[in-house]
Amino acid sequence: MSNVAALEVARAQIEEYRKRIQSLDSDSRDLMFRQARNHNCWQERDVSDDQLHEAYDLARMGPTSANTQPMRITFLRSKESKERLNPHVNGPNQEKTMLAPVTAIVAYDNTFFTDFPKFNPIRPEMADLYSGNAELAERFSRIQAILQGGYFIMALRAIGLDVGAMGGFNNAAVDEEFFVGTPVKSIFLCNIGYGDVSGVKGPRLYRYGFDEVCEVL
Ligand SMILES: Cc1cc2nc3c(=O)[nH]c(=O)nc-3n(C[C@H](O)[C@H](O)[C@H](O)COP(=O)(O)O)c2cc1C
Repeated sequence: MSNVAALEVARAQIEEYRKRIQSLDSDSRDLMFRQARNHNCWQERDVSDDQLHEAYDLARMGPTSANTQPMRITFLRSKESKERLNPHVNGPNQEKTMLAPVTAIVAYDNTFFTDFPKFNPIRPEMADLYSGNAELAERFSRIQAILQGGYFIMALRAIGLDVGAMGGFNNAAVDEEFFVGTPVKSIFLCNIGYGDVSGVKGPRLYRYGFDEVCEVL
């Protein structure tokens, strides 16, 4: 298909879905935001590889600067892989991580720019900006991957799974264990499964209201 024809198709797709859907309904908003909680205990229900693919296929559609997509995910399902992680996780996070059906290491690749021709063929020369500036590449890729990690959490919720995110672990030790010799570094861990409410220890904590933290100029 020519570029012009592909653009026509893309525009038609946008118009079609916008006619079909205006917004998420109230139940979907509850599932993803209003009632969704961080989970610490897990029901004995498996999470399939198909579900992990389904969640990633949604999360990857979230926007990143210049379409760079530096997030990388390592899913730990086997007991052996969990045991490699366990010594590097803070004490209070250990048991729930061992018991979760799957734990994701959400990470980033600071050499993401080598793929510019693939993910942004219109402006491949943008790679030069990062290839000559390691500090910029590091900062940029971490920020963009954190954004993607947020999309990933919401994608898991969108397909009906529960999530327990964790920053309480030794990043350097996890990187040494799982990513040695690679340009990948961990950001946060994410337990994935069907939450058991016995692990929810209290009502929702305070969330800032619009007027407290937003301004309209
Ligand atoms: C990136 C990230 C890191 C977190 N780290 C931890 C952690 O190490 N241990 C923990 O028990 N909870 C952790 N949490 C869970 C938060 O404390 C929890 O989401 C927050 O208190 C709000 O809870 P709620 O979503 O149930 O309202 C983390 C959440 C996120 C998003």
